[in-house]
Formats: sequence, structure tokens, C-alpha cells
Amino acid sequence: MEVLVPIADMRQWSRAQLQRGARIGFVPTMGALHAGHLSLVQRARQLADRVVVSIFVNPTQFDNQQDLATYPRTLDEDLALCRQAGVDVVWTPETAEMYPDGYCTFVEMYGPLTDKLCAIARPGHFRGVCTVVTKLLAVVRPDVAIFGQKDLQQALIVSRMVADLNLGVEIVVAPTVRDRDGLALSSRNRRLTPAMRAKALALPRGLELARRAYRGGETESRKLIEIVAEEVLVNEGVDLDYCDVVSLPGFQEAERADDRCVLAAAVFVDGVRLIDHVPLAGEAIPVAIDDDERA
Ligand code: PAF
Repeated sequence: MEVLVPIADMRQWSRAQLQRGARIGFVPTMGALHAGHLSLVQRARQLADRVVVSIFVNPTQFDNQQDLATYPRTLDEDLALCRQAGVDVVWTPETAEMYPDGYCTFVEMYGPLTDKLCAIARPGHFRGVCTVVTKLLAVVRPDVAIFGQKDLQQALIVSRMVADLNLGVEIVVAPTVRDRDGLALSSRNRRLTPAMRAKALALPRGLELARRAYRGGETESRKLIEIVAEEVLVNEGVDLDYCDVVSLPGFQEAERADDRCVLAAAVFVDGVRLIDHVPLAGEAIPVAIDDDERA
């Protein structure tokens, strides 16, 4: 496995692969890798001849400087995981090269994908994501790039952006990987103490309760949202950032839920922000729910 840092080295490697006719699969990350990222790598390996993982904590997508400063950074572990997973290249560009003095070009999206949920809760976040993803794709020049369903809004935005800008990259959305207790894997989970983690489980539990209610015939989105809110807000130190029912593929808010809808929610657990997206027609989340207590 090669570890590349300068943009020119990454560009040269990709050009050589393209000249050989090799298909490049790309998994962009901010590091602190976990089994969710490795499932994206696995998918990339199925779809391409060579796999590139980028590790870059992108400052332009953080609306909160404290969040950027405390974002977990575990490069040595990340490299070991990538090596084991059969990654061909890990690219770790420097911030000073990605955003040199005088940098002033950004990619911004308008419309239904960026007028709700994380786009409102984190102003400027998707402008930073669109900008950095465009830059990463321009250097790596992959045939296919893989994004996780946990960050569904991001994945839909990137797909739209790639189509709108004719970037010629296939975007694949891979399923969310969960821990055995149902919590969606996220680099931010590393910041949870055991007590915080116990409270964080209210998120997948609330989403699963709402999913079950929908399967049981409840289609009023307001009621499904209330189920999530009630489950989450009884925990001290847990705040609901947002919860909504959105319809795919347009990502419109839906008053009435149907099988095309996804429940999207973000919470703060003692200041750590966690998000999740659950298709209402999808599989059950493996959470412990005491049905007797709720009967
Ligand atoms: O999902 C992430 O880790 C980041 O938003 C991404 C896509 C790597 C861009 O910085």
C-alpha cells in the first residue's frame, strides 16, 4: 500500500492507472476509520481494480471550530486498517496545499437537497463538503466513489453535484453499518464515554420505534417524529437537533409517510453530534426495546 501526500503524487499515480486502463474506486474519508468505512472499501474493491482512500479532515465543512479541533485523528491505526483491507493508496493531503493562502473558490448547491436538515443545522457545511469532494475527485479521477447511507443527505447532494457538474464519476451509496446495540458506526462515537453511549442509543431506539409504528399503520409523519423525540428527550444531556420524514428521490418533507420515505434525525449527546437515516420500508434496527414495559 502506498501513502501519498502531495497532490502531484496522487495525480501522477491516478494518471498511470488510467493509462493502464485500470478502474479506480475511491472512498473519501476524514479518518478515524471504523468498520463502516471498511465496508465502503470492500464495495470499492468489488467495483474497481484499484482502491484509493483519502484521509483529510476538511476544515471548510466545520461550522464549529471546537468540533474541528476535537475531531478524532488516528492516522497510524487508519493506515493499518487500510493495509489489512487491501487498499492500494491512502492519500493524506495537507490542509495548506488543499487551501493555500488566497484560496477563494467554493462549490454551492441550491434547492431541495440543501434547504433542510443538516444544511440548516450546520450552515456552510455542505458548501464545504461539495467543495472538498469536487477537489478530491478532480485529483483522484476515480471511476466510482462510495458514500455511506448514514450520511444520506450528503450522499444525495454529492450524486446531484456530480451529475450537475458532469464530473463523470459513478456515485454508489452503501448501507449503514451498526454496532450490535444498533448505534450507527461513526468516527464521532469515539468521543462517547460509556455513559454517553448508553444515552446515544435513544437515537436508534427512537428511530426503530417510529419505523415499527409506521409498519403498524401509522403514516402521519408528525406522529412518527414525536415518537423519536419522546424517546430521545427523556435523557438528560441529549438534545434533538432535528427529526424529519423525507421522501426519496426528491428529498421533500412528507406530511404522510410511505415506503419511499426515510426518517432522518440528528442529536447532540452531551455536545457530540450524531446523525442517522432510516428507510421506513427498510430492515429493523437491532436495538433492545423492552416491549413489556411499553405495553
Ligand atoms: O463523510 C465524510 O467523511 C466527509 O464529509 C467527506 C465526504 C470525506 C468530505 O470531507
